[in-house]
Amino acid sequence: MGDLARRIAGLPDDARAKLASLLKGRAEAARTAATGAASPPVAPAADDRLLLDASAPGEPAALKASYKRFYDSVTTQLDSSPFGQFSYFLNYGYVPDGSPEYAVVALPDHYLNKNSVKLVLELAGDSPIQGKRVLDVGCGRGGTIHTLKTFFAPATLTGLDLSTTAVEFDRKAHGDARTSFHEGDAEHLPFAGGAFDVVTNVESSHSYPNIHRFYSEVHRVLAPDGRFLYTDALSLQQIAASLAYLDHLGFELEHNRNITRNVLLSCDQVAATRVQAFDSRNDQQLMQNFLATPGSQVYEEMRSGRWEYRILTLRKRR
Ligand SMILES: C[S@@+](CC[C@H](N)C(=O)[O-])C[C@H]1O[C@@H](n2cnc3c(N)ncnc32)[C@H](O)[C@@H]1O
Repeated sequence: MGDLARRIAGLPDDARAKLASLLKGRAEAARTAATGAASPPVAPAADDRLLLDASAPGEPAALKASYKRFYDSVTTQLDSSPFGQFSYFLNYGYVPDGSPEYAVVALPDHYLNKNSVKLVLELAGDSPIQGKRVLDVGCGRGGTIHTLKTFFAPATLTGLDLSTTAVEFDRKAHGDARTSFHEGDAEHLPFAGGAFDVVTNVESSHSYPNIHRFYSEVHRVLAPDGRFLYTDALSLQQIAASLAYLDHLGFELEHNRNITRNVLLSCDQVAATRVQAFDSRNDQQLMQNFLATPGSQVYEEMRSGRWEYRILTLRKRR
């Protein structure tokens, strides 16, 4: 991330100091989360319509519209924070716990968004990515695309997300001759059959009303022998149904890893710090679930084992 380092160096002194304290504040954040002490809010939104609220309609189209509004607001709030230009990730991240690791790239101790980058590196493992055509579905603010571009030299990178503002950010932050972004729906991918060699999907599929339709679309847009690199937190029931459906579609399972403990360790470290990047007037319960702060419902579902955060690596059979 040499470009980021240069941009950080170019920040005014006070913003650079704040960023350094946010990055360094992870241990303190874990303590704060454990004691339940409130973090000081920063970056108040200028407009109340941008506040995140917990209304969640049940119909698929309404649900998608609600997710789109939610992630549009998330992106807008991050954009108006002093650190928005460095916020490439919206995932919980991964922290090693002594269990086998699959990343082929070692990150230095202090690395921007280290836990989220590590999640992507664990997902990528030693999969063939160099020189390949990569699609990232639910790309958010482009962190997966940025990481793959930095470490694996794919031929082309394509990002797709439901959120208009996320895609606008992505085009500015990451767009170049071989990197493009599309606004769209994971259940209706606007690409020709066989157009990609690798499809990635990071912590996004739990939002899709028809997750099997998404799997069918991934299978369609992948070339034979293509890889589907997939990670998310799902209920045990959903995981069983997903594995059966992916097999039925013609995917061969290469890796199936339960990384819940690694993700919870990351939430312990960073969730409280991340709260600071958002408007303090958002629905706080929703924010705690979105960030999986310790004690939130999402965190407890994972801690109890009712939900598991998995990495699935699949190959489309020839
Ligand atoms: C938790 S964020 C993760 C973003 C990114 N993958 C990352 O790791 O930072 C989930 C993303 O999925 C996107 N999303 C939700 N539903 C979607 C859909 N039906 N189609 C495409 N993207 C969707 C959201 O807009 C959001 O950017």
